[in-house]
Amino acid sequence: MKFVNSYKDKLRKYNKEHNLKYYIDTMGCQMNENDSLKYAGILESMGFVPGGESDSNVYLFNTCCVRENAENTLFGRLGMLKQRKIKNEEVYIAIVGCMTQQKHILDKIKKSYRFVDIVLGTSCMSIFPEKLYNAIINGQDKIEYIDVSNTLEEDVPIKYQDKYKASVSIIYGCNNFCTYCIVPYVRGRERSRRPESILKDIRELASNGYKEIMLLGQNVNSYGNDFEEEYTFPMLLKEIEKIDGIEIIRFMSPHPKDFKDDLIEVIRNSKKVARQIHLPLQSGNTEILKKMNRKYTKEQYLELAMKLKQIPDVSLSTDIIVGFPNETEEQFQDTLDVVKKVEFDQIYMFIYSKRNGTVAAKMEDKVTYEEKVDRLERLKKLYEEILPKLNEKMVGKEYKLLVEGKSKTNDKLYTGRTSQNKVVVFEADDTYIGKVVNIKIDSQHLWYLKGTIVK
Ligand code: 5AD
Ligand code: SF4
Repeated sequence: MKFVNSYKDKLRKYNKEHNLKYYIDTMGCQMNENDSLKYAGILESMGFVPGGESDSNVYLFNTCCVRENAENTLFGRLGMLKQRKIKNEEVYIAIVGCMTQQKHILDKIKKSYRFVDIVLGTSCMSIFPEKLYNAIINGQDKIEYIDVSNTLEEDVPIKYQDKYKASVSIIYGCNNFCTYCIVPYVRGRERSRRPESILKDIRELASNGYKEIMLLGQNVNSYGNDFEEEYTFPMLLKEIEKIDGIEIIRFMSPHPKDFKDDLIEVIRNSKKVARQIHLPLQSGNTEILKKMNRKYTKEQYLELAMKLKQIPDVSLSTDIIVGFPNETEEQFQDTLDVVKKVEFDQIYMFIYSKRNGTVAAKMEDKVTYEEKVDRLERLKKLYEEILPKLNEKMVGKEYKLLVEGKSKTNDKLYTGRTSQNKVVVFEADDTYIGKVVNIKIDSQHLWYLKGTIVK
C-alpha cells in the first residue's frame, strides 16, 4: 500500500493559522521508536511543529504491551489531558500501537476515556492523516478506531533523530508464536518489505551522510519467506553492503532457529556487518524452550553461539526471560550455564510477564514473584562478573567506531560505539563527529571503555 496523504494540504493550511504543536510519547521496543519517527514525519509534513509535554495540541501515545504493565502509565497521562479538554483547550489525543490491539484496553478506552479522539492499531499509519483531519477540521467527537491492517506501508516520511545512524524496518509482524509473547497477536503476520524499497531508503540515507544502519524486524531472518521468488536475508545484506557511504550494518533480531550457515558466511565475509550479533536465548533449558515454542534445544543454541564466536572479534548479545511458568531452580541453572559458556557482552533480562491471550498465560505457575526477582538478581550478578573479563580482552586492541558526539557527562570527551556495540569515550573535537575512526582501547570501566583515536 502506498502512503497517500490526501489530507496533508488541508491540515497544512489549517496549521498556517493555528500553529498546532505535537508531542509523541513512545513506549517499548525499537520498532515502536522507529514507528514514532514516522508519525513525527507525517505530522511535520502536515505543518505540525514539535512541542513540549504540557503545551502541545496533538498528543500521540505509541503504546507497547510486550511486558510490564504500561497501561497504568497510559491511563494516568490521559487523565491529565482530560483536564485540558474540559477547559476547552485545543487538544487532540491519538493512541496507536500494540496496546490498542487488546480487546480489554479498547473496551476501557471506549467506556471510560471517551475524550480520546483516535485509536489506531499497528500498521495503520496511512489512515492517520484522515482520522486527524476528521478530529480537527470536522470536529468529529466519536472515537475513530481502526484495527491492525496487516498491510505494508511505504513512502512514509520519517523524521530521523540522529544524523549518522538510522533504523530501517525490513519485515513487520511475526509468525513464531513463542508461547509467552503477545507480538504475533498485535502485530499480525510476517510481511517483508520489497528489497527495492529498502535499498532505495538506504541509498537515500547514505546520500544524506548516514553511515550506520540498523535493520529492524521481529524476526529478520524470516525476511523474504513471504515472497514468491527466492530472496533471503543474506541476499539483502549483500546488496546493502554494496551501498557506498554505509559503513556499519546492524540488525535485530534474528531467531536462532533460522540462523543458517549462509548468513554466518555473509557476516564473516562482510566488511560492514557489525561484529555484534543479537541472538535471543530466552532460556537455557531445553524443556522450558520447548514450552516456550522456541524450536531449538540448549545444545543447538550452544553450537550456533560457538560457531558465531569463531568470527574474529564478534560479540554476542541476548534476551533472557527468568521465571517462565513453573521454571524450576534446576532449569534456571541451565540458563546460567549457557551464560557462562557463551559469555554474552550484553544481556537484556526480563522477568516473565503474563500476557493475556497467549498460550503461556494458561500454564500453571507455582514460582513466586520473590523467587523470580531473586533469579534475575543472580543472573545480573553473573553477567557483571563476566563483563569486565570480556572488556579486558579488548584493552590494547584497535576497533572501528562511529563518532556519535560529545559525551553527556564530560564536555571534553566524545563518545561512540565500536562495531561490537561497546560504548567508548575518548578525546576528540567536533570535526570527528559522524566519522568512522579507528580507536585503541586503553581501559575498561564495566559499562564503557576509554580509548584513543589512532591516526
Ligand atoms: N515476559 C517477559 N519478557 C518477554 N519478552 C517478550 N514477551 C515477554 C513476556 N511475556 C521479551 C523477550 C523478547 C524481548 C523483546 O522481550 O525476551 O526477546
Ligand atoms: Fe515474540 Fe517469539 Fe515473535 Fe520474537 S519470535 S516477536 S519472542 S513470538
